[in-house]
This record gives sequence, structure tokens and C-alpha cells, in this order.
Amino acid sequence: MQIRENQLLVIFGASGDLTSRKLIPALFALHSQKLLPGAFAVIGTGRSDLSDEAFRQLAREVLKISDDKKTTGDPAVDFIHLLHYVSIDTLQPSAYKKLKEKMEDVDQKFGIGGNCIFYLATPPDLYTIIAESLAIQHLNKSSSSGWRRLIIEKPVGYNYQSARSLHKSLYAYFNEEQLYRIDHYLGKETVQNVMVTRFSNGIFEPLWNRNYVHHVEITSSESIGIENRGGYYDKAGAMRDMLQNHLLQLLTLVAMEPPTLITSNAIRNETLKVLQSVRPIPAKEVAENVIRGQYTESTIHGIRMPSYRNEPGIKPDSRTETFVALKLFIENWRWGGVPFFIRTGKRLPTRVTEIVIHFKSTPHKLFCFDENRHNAENQLVIRIQPDEGMLLKFGMKVPGAGFKVQDVNMNFHYSDLAYNHIPEAYQRLLIDCMQGDSTLFTRGDAIEQAWEIVDPILWAWENDRDIPIYGYPAGTWGPRESDRLIGEPNMTWRYPCKNLSDDGIYCEL
Ligand SMILES: NC(=O)c1ccc[n+]([C@@H]2O[C@H](COP(=O)([O-])OP(=O)(O)OC[C@H]3O[C@@H](n4cnc5c(N)ncnc54)[C@H](OP(=O)(O)O)[C@@H]3O)[C@@H](O)[C@H]2O)c1
Repeated sequence: MQIRENQLLVIFGASGDLTSRKLIPALFALHSQKLLPGAFAVIGTGRSDLSDEAFRQLAREVLKISDDKKTTGDPAVDFIHLLHYVSIDTLQPSAYKKLKEKMEDVDQKFGIGGNCIFYLATPPDLYTIIAESLAIQHLNKSSSSGWRRLIIEKPVGYNYQSARSLHKSLYAYFNEEQLYRIDHYLGKETVQNVMVTRFSNGIFEPLWNRNYVHHVEITSSESIGIENRGGYYDKAGAMRDMLQNHLLQLLTLVAMEPPTLITSNAIRNETLKVLQSVRPIPAKEVAENVIRGQYTESTIHGIRMPSYRNEPGIKPDSRTETFVALKLFIENWRWGGVPFFIRTGKRLPTRVTEIVIHFKSTPHKLFCFDENRHNAENQLVIRIQPDEGMLLKFGMKVPGAGFKVQDVNMNFHYSDLAYNHIPEAYQRLLIDCMQGDSTLFTRGDAIEQAWEIVDPILWAWENDRDIPIYGYPAGTWGPRESDRLIGEPNMTWRYPCKNLSDDGIYCEL
């Protein structure tokens, strides 16, 4: 359904990677589906000296729209005409006057009427100065002549203290209702489906607690390395880049209580309570409950892959983790005693994000199971990406004499649906912000609470040199020590595919 309220979108950092890879394609997709409001326009900003036409040309290249397409009425041509650009250095408060004038021009030309979203796709250290400078030009306050919203990208802070102080400065100019913090995982259809699976099916929710669930596993693996983001990644590491935000958000959806209503605050209150119930891991228990790793050189299908320390932009003695696996407990009525295992890493054998609910076994084993089977109990696998879907594993009698049991699968793939178009996360998140729905955006208190969970671990890593960082050959499922976390005989992580590396060199770095 077309968005009702006319509005302007101002993108800071419009010459950057996020804008060209995610925002422009998402906006074009919304335009093509006729979802954008009747009067809508985009103003990109950055230091790069671009004209409107040069910015449009960049968009044409990203969208592979040929230059000779000129006919008005063609969706691609019409979309390109929505784009404008003004060059400003966001560090110069005086530059915002220029932006304000451009906004007034475009607003008038398109008959928008004052509503505006500011999207900060810049380095995060600019967020405060941008918010403050917008306020100096009176561009921050919603009023009868139009509302104002501010989208910020991750990372929100580097630790609890910096997240807190960023929030304090933002709250001086924008209130929480105006702030939209993107965690693009929440924009994924399959992530939202976790709530639907739990709260719309009578068969799952009664089992979704400590009485029936043995443990829960959340994995997000990437097969790529750090690409050309060495400078950023070496300061961040897997804990800050993935676990503090995306994976703890997944945890909240798996573990939350049913909200009273499907409203933004009701849902976000429940997700916050989960984070507040996570037992912090004290520094002295970090080595035992958190395994960190870094990929080392290896050969995959005959191709030599460099070690992390040999990637461009990485210090040769870097101790930044490219893999982390940890064991958490949620101390509440529903989950007391149930371990949650979470892992993420780069240069693992495949790209997959999945949640696995491992159910407890029957109280008595009547039938004959293969003794060597791992993870033999019922499992519900929620595949977030790729091959979005769900898999239920259960035991079935092997046909023939006796009562031998084997595992079989009930497997649902989104791709089997007649209507199987899965919108890209940024499309969904942009629509929601345009409609003023913040359900799928992280609230400030939840971000700070997530930092409270990971801060003691980061502190221990920085201050206790005795906590090892393990090497794992690129193309394997991380350090062997991560299996130790699961800690029960005949139980391992679920491995969606085998190790790819020809090398077997695991070491302490
Ligand atoms: N790329 C992704 O896939 C991704 C994913 C998740 C989150 N993010 C987050 O999104 C944000 C942008 O990431 P990115 O990858 O697009 O970074 P990027 O490619 O380095 O782009 C940064 C943008 O900020 C602009 N900029 C930098 N300093 C500026 C200044 N002083 N005044 C005005 N503009 C300035 C740059 O434009 P000029 O050089 O023209 O000034 C450029 O357009 C970051 O916070 C990042 O953490 C990115």
C-alpha cells in the first residue's frame, strides 16, 4: 500500500558504500512497487563535490539504468528525477544553512509540505555533530509544519559508556520517538517470522521453555573475510560487529515473552526484558564461557587463503577476534538453566544464519538409536538466511523388522510459496520509518543493555593476557575449543556443512 504522508529523505553520506549498495536499490524497489508517497524526493549530502546530475549518474550506474532512457513515465527515469545532491562538510555548522536552503527548494518543487527523514550513513563519530547542527538550523523538531525523524546506522557506540554518551547527546536534540536505529537483521522477513512461528502456532509455544527445551543455538557464519573493511574491522572484531547487535537481537526474539499487543513499545519492552535477564559473564569466567578465534592461512579447494593478520589494513600482531562463540543463561522463569550458545565468525565454510531449538529427549529411551548419532533429539531449525525456511527433525521407525529409529526432516522453504518474493531488509525498514513504525528498530535502552552484556567480556579480553585467542584455518568452523562450550558427550554445534580447509592447523595465537 502506498505510503500516505509526503516526505523528504535527506541522506548524509550519499557518496558512500551503504547508500549505493543498499539505500538507492531499496528506494528504487519501493518506487517500482509504487509504495513511495505521492510527493517524495531524496537529497544526498557528502563532502564530495557532486551536482544533482552527477549524483543521478551514480544512481544510474548502481541501478544499471542506461543513459539514453529519457522518457518521463518510465519508472527508472521518474525515480532518477527524485534524486538531488548538495555538497556539505558535516563538520562545518555553517554548511547546514546550504542544506536548509536546498531542502526548502526541493520541498517546494515537489509539494512535500515539511515532513523529513534524516538518514545518517556516515562514520558514527559524525552523528552528534550532525544532530547538533540540524538543531542550530531548527531542522530537528517535529511541528505542525511537518515531522522530523533521524535514522542512525550501527555501530551505536563502541561500548556501554560511548553508547550512553551518544544517546545523551542525541536526546538533547531529538526525542526517542524520532530516533530509528537500524539493525538490518530485524528487517529480515525470516527474523520477523520467529515471532509469528512462536505466537501464532499452538504447537510450538507450549514447548518453548525450560521444561522442554534442552538448549538453543544461534549461528551466523560468513564465508567471506574482511574484504576491504580492514581499518574498521580490526577496531571492531566479531563481538562488536555482529554479536552485540544482530545476534543479541535474534536472542531476544527467541526468548521473549508474548507481547500484550503487536505495537512497537509492547514488543520492545519484552525484548528489553530478555537482555536485562541475561546473566552477565564475570571477567574470571570469560575464558571458560567465551571462545574467541582468528582465522589463519589455509588452502580451500586448492586456493591459498591469507591469514587475518595478512589481510590489508590489519596489524601483523592483531588480537582482534574474527570468531566468537559463547554460552549465556537467561535468568527468568521461562529459561532458568537453559544454555543459549551463540557463535559468529568470518571465513567459515559457508554463509548461514540459523536458530536451532534443541528439545529435551523423551524421559525413557524405548527404541534403538544409533549410538554414534550427534544431536539426536528433536530439533527445530529456523533458517534466517540463505534458503529461508524451517526444518523440524524427528525420529521415525526404520521400515522393516524391529524398532530402529532414524532421523527424518519436515522441511519448509520460503521459495516453495506461490508468493515467494522476500523484500530486502532495507526496503522494509525504510517503509516502516516512513510510516512512523519503530517496531523493527532497536530502542536506546536495549542497545545499552546489550553493551552491558558484552562489555565485561571485552574488558577481560583487553586486560587478561592469559585468555587465549585461538587460531582456526580459514574455511573451518572456528576453533575446536568452541565444541567444548557445548560440553556434553554426543552433542555438538549443528554444522550445516563440512570444513573446507585442506589444512588442520589449529593453534593458540
Ligand atoms: N556499508 C555497509 O554495508 C554498512 C552496513 C552496516 C552499517 N554501515 C554503517 O553505515 C555508515 C556508512 O557506511 P559506509 O560503508 O557507507 O561508509 P563509507 O563508504 O566510508 O561512506 C561514508 C560516507 O560519509 C561521508 N562523509 C564522511 N565524512 C564526512 C564529513 N565530514 N562530512 C560529510 N560527509 C562525510 C562520505 O562522503 P564524502 O567522502 O563525500 O564526504 C561518504 O559518503 C557507517 O556508520 C557504517 O558503520 C554500513
